Amino acid sequence: MVAAPVSEALKRIKPSATIAVTQKARELQTAGHNVIGLGAGEPDFDTPENVKAAAIKAIQDGKTKYTDVDGIPELKQAIVAKFKRENGLEYKTSQVNVSPGGKPVIYNAFVATLNPGDEVLIPTPYWVSYPEMAIMCGATPTFAHARAEDNYKLKPEVLEAAITPKTKWLIFNSPSNPSGAAYTKAELRAIADVLVRHPQVWILTDDMYEHLVYDGFEYFTIAQVEPALYDRTLTMNGVSKAYSMTGWRIGYAAGPEALIKGMAKVMSQTTSNPCSISQWAAVEALNGTQAFIKPNQELFKGRRDLVVRMLNQTDELRCPTPEGAFYVYPDCSRAIGKTSASGVKITNDETFAAALLEEEKVAVVFGEAFGLGPAFRISYATSTEKLEEACRRIQRFCGNLKK
Ligand SMILES: Cc1ncc(COP(=O)(O)O)c(C=O)c1O
Repeated sequence: MVAAPVSEALKRIKPSATIAVTQKARELQTAGHNVIGLGAGEPDFDTPENVKAAAIKAIQDGKTKYTDVDGIPELKQAIVAKFKRENGLEYKTSQVNVSPGGKPVIYNAFVATLNPGDEVLIPTPYWVSYPEMAIMCGATPTFAHARAEDNYKLKPEVLEAAITPKTKWLIFNSPSNPSGAAYTKAELRAIADVLVRHPQVWILTDDMYEHLVYDGFEYFTIAQVEPALYDRTLTMNGVSKAYSMTGWRIGYAAGPEALIKGMAKVMSQTTSNPCSISQWAAVEALNGTQAFIKPNQELFKGRRDLVVRMLNQTDELRCPTPEGAFYVYPDCSRAIGKTSASGVKITNDETFAAALLEEEKVAVVFGEAFGLGPAFRISYATSTEKLEEACRRIQRFCGNLKK
């Protein structure tokens, strides 16, 4: 058999740890084990009916052909209206990009702007795809570490110290995957004050979890807090998480026209337009009723509180209460050095997660995959009953750890 060719770029990147965990949990499940998977990053409820109806109508109306490469005018208009209504940001449709998911928005922006030697500054813990996308584009990811004791929020002085003359992008993600941390207006102000002093740094703000915030948290995005950053900020968002549309593949962003043009050029030679039917569904998601967002927030808040409470009942885990998303990120440093019931020595968060899966059949994603450990990520986008059972198993696993 002839070996398939492998590029240098492919050799440089890692496969997604979150997808690997989901796969491993699926295999154990197929082998007959009662596995609770807390690895997946998608809401466990269905796309709203009005959105589905809009897609069906689009098919019936023959909206099934190529569209403008970076989005139909109607969706761009809905996005302009969304940014105005929800974020107080003024954009023209020529400043809007629609891509096949939030992920490609980031990738298209990177392809359009990065050169070898450029640095992409990424706060930790980070969403797994950021560094790998930068690496694929020949750039170098650099990191600024947040700490569990700061609820995983980046301190302005840490950001300041991490910026170099080569920093081309800062990726900012609030609420965060994996920590759930969301920045208040005052916290964003402090971050913006640093960025104003470094005009070479562009900001890609990943606002994907904007609508998943709890306890009355008031959401702000950075260009709204500091208008001086507007001209070098790409404000990214999407319908995947808020509208439970992960499979539909629609992400979007708004920013300076020249950057948006560059991103469209990349798309014109690679993906072409996002799915026409999904685009019409996204128009309805953004323009139609937002009534289901509140009840979903209530549901997720209840689950978050349950998980944080049960994890903090263990001696080994310290779990901050995050403001948003559907993740918690417990620190497990007190488990390191102990031995599990089946005799596994817990040397890092990866061995912790592996032993937890093996012994208690609970799948979580270890923190090293997100650039900050020892910790792990739990997605609470699953039923309350399953979460309660999973937390009981985690408590038992921790209770069995011996010095
Ligand atoms: C922080 C963050 N940004 C972007 C995305 C990508 O979203 P999409 O599924 O629309 O590509 C995800 C998905 O997990 C995410 O967690």
